[in-house]
Amino acid sequence: MAVSSNEPSPINQRDLRNAFGTFLTGVTVVTVLDEEGNPRGITANSFTSVSLDPPLILICIGNRSFSFPIFCTAPSFAVNLLHEGQADVSSLFASRSPDKFRSTGFGPKHTGAPVLTDCLTWFDCTVHDRVIAGDHLILIGRVQAFGQNATEGRTAPLGFCRGSYTTLRDASDVGGETPHGIRIGYLVESDDGILLQSDGAGGWQLPRGRSRKAEWTLPLADGGTLPLRPDDSFLYSVFDVAGQDAGCLVYRARLAADAATATLPPGFRFFALASLPFDAMPMRETRAMLRRYVRERQADRFGIYIDSSDGGRLAMVDGSTSPWIGAFAENG
Ligand SMILES: Cc1cc2nc3c(=O)[nH]c(=O)nc-3n(C[C@H](O)[C@H](O)[C@H](O)COP(=O)(O)O)c2cc1C
Repeated sequence: MAVSSNEPSPINQRDLRNAFGTFLTGVTVVTVLDEEGNPRGITANSFTSVSLDPPLILICIGNRSFSFPIFCTAPSFAVNLLHEGQADVSSLFASRSPDKFRSTGFGPKHTGAPVLTDCLTWFDCTVHDRVIAGDHLILIGRVQAFGQNATEGRTAPLGFCRGSYTTLRDASDVGGETPHGIRIGYLVESDDGILLQSDGAGGWQLPRGRSRKAEWTLPLADGGTLPLRPDDSFLYSVFDVAGQDAGCLVYRARLAADAATATLPPGFRFFALASLPFDAMPMRETRAMLRRYVRERQADRFGIYIDSSDGGRLAMVDGSTSPWIGAFAENG
């Protein structure tokens, strides 16, 4: 019998799951109290804001989850949005561990649902509606209270895409933002390669600094410093990032010899030029810049990239450096 060409082809569940997984989301932990008053929670990325008036959000709970029956009856629940340093919290709450709250701080806010002490943002909700949709419960919550945790600087949300955690920090891998809205990053080289900083979510970025230099130290965004070679720090790249207001300024520099052998602060690591982790660098601009650096290092001749509307300009810098004082400086 001929099969009608209008008949839909059967949906392969694994393919569908992979297709759903290409949608970039944040990560939440949805929490609830069971009938005995014990805290329960699951990791969920199906969070959606629904309405401002009334204030509604939704989350989808799979019917295979241990906590499914609790979410079907509990009068309230909380949604805790995770920040980029909480991939481990996400993994814990995605597990079937019977005691997910043993090492996780929490407390009541408004409805009594457990709100995580450490999270980016929380929504404490009463149940507005429940809709069974296929193998999930769509739990619609009416926000009764919400808050963002005061964090130093701009803490980035934890992201999730294609089955992996990712970071959604705004152009974060080129540095701390100066008062003028310029982000500063450092391309620091030593004999062992390029210095990169973990972004806390499996990715690598350029070390961030608050200002260009202070007595030839690299002031790191987290408060530490690294000593630099005074004669070897130059502007390397000036560019905008699509969709961002702040411009980016990147200096190349070399670590002072004694620093290259010293213990690096946690989260810092040198990567050989031949094995830079391009796949783990979220920002296209950083990847392109480091690819240029690798090429230029081989030729031992560096340029300065200036972004412009026609695709940018690369000015090659030839020759060695000479001190300004005594040569051209008015007071020198
Ligand atoms: C990033 C991520 C997102 C998830 N999103 C959801 C979701 O939206 N809804 C859901 O029911 N489960 C989701 N899960 C799976 C649950 O967290 C997992 O099934 C967990 O074991 C449920 O906990 P429980 O069985 O102890 O109730 C997600 C897991 C991960 C890692």
